[in-house]
Amino acid sequence: MHIPVLYQETIDFLQPQPGGRYIDGTVGAGGHTRGILQASAPDGKILAFDRDREAIIYARQQLTDAGQRITFVHASYSRMAELAPAYGFDKADGILLDLGLSSSQLANSSRGFSFVNDGPLDMRFDTTSGPTAADLVNELEVSDLATIFQRYGEVRRSHRLAEVIANNRPLQTTKQLADLIDRESSKFGSTGHGRVSRIHPATQIFQALRIAVNNELAELERGLEAAVKLLEVGGRLVVISFHSLEDRIVKHYMREMSQECKCPPGQPVCTCGSQPVLRLVRRKVVRPTASEIASNPRSRSAKLRVAQRIAGDAL
Ligand SMILES: C[S@@+](CC[C@H](N)C(=O)[O-])C[C@H]1O[C@@H](n2cnc3c(N)ncnc32)[C@H](O)[C@@H]1O
Repeated sequence: MHIPVLYQETIDFLQPQPGGRYIDGTVGAGGHTRGILQASAPDGKILAFDRDREAIIYARQQLTDAGQRITFVHASYSRMAELAPAYGFDKADGILLDLGLSSSQLANSSRGFSFVNDGPLDMRFDTTSGPTAADLVNELEVSDLATIFQRYGEVRRSHRLAEVIANNRPLQTTKQLADLIDRESSKFGSTGHGRVSRIHPATQIFQALRIAVNNELAELERGLEAAVKLLEVGGRLVVISFHSLEDRIVKHYMREMSQECKCPPGQPVCTCGSQPVLRLVRRKVVRPTASEIASNPRSRSAKLRVAQRIAGDAL
């Protein structure tokens, strides 16, 4: 079962109100959505996106009691600005992005996100389109695979691992890939520098492939822009991320959009005249408490950031 991460903090920061319009860009199993529905009862409305058709079907079943208050859209949150107006959401009073994957996706071996159980090397959030992890692993040049491992998994000896993979093609299942990485890494110690890590060496490779398959970082950049465009003045954007690559993007975007002046550093007088469009509600990242981590280990790497739309420049 999927337990929503930083649940109470998310609801407290979003501040859903009766009559408000909220967008959940990553409905998943519907955990946070339910909280937004409750806090905005009796008539707050939600537009719920997910790139995963199965997630949409599941969340719809879970939230049938919400009736007309919720509308589901099978699409990436990066498209929310273009799609939302057709559903009556010209603007939104609050937007949530809870990134990454849900426990149900991880546990479903047919999706290929985990190497704990064997399954096809798929890893697509949207199983209706785009290349799978098997396509990347079996078709990319060694140098391109190595770049993915290095950039998205911060994997040591990424070129060597890419070569080993290329020499053992075709790889079709999660276990084949994980075992191969395990064998190769054990020759060097699993961290690649002689020390043994508690983390399975395939973890970073799987993360890197998943990010590449779903183009996750570019989607996030586009999603943040789309969200700020849609936010009503006073509305809040809450983003929960699960690794440093995502958090860095969220942090930089929120900082840039909340800056008073965009003139080059060192310029003595501001000439840009730009007005910030966001105010940071919290300057620092919000982390789960020790008790949340104990009861839901998946939350241990979660980082929440929150900003509020202010009048500022038109977007
Ligand atoms: C951590 S889960 C969300 C869990 C949800 N907040 C809950 O409480 O049940 C992340 C969800 O985001 C979805 N997702 C990932 N990338 C997406 C994207 N670009 N657009 C829409 N949904 C996406 C995944 O399919 C997954 O269902």
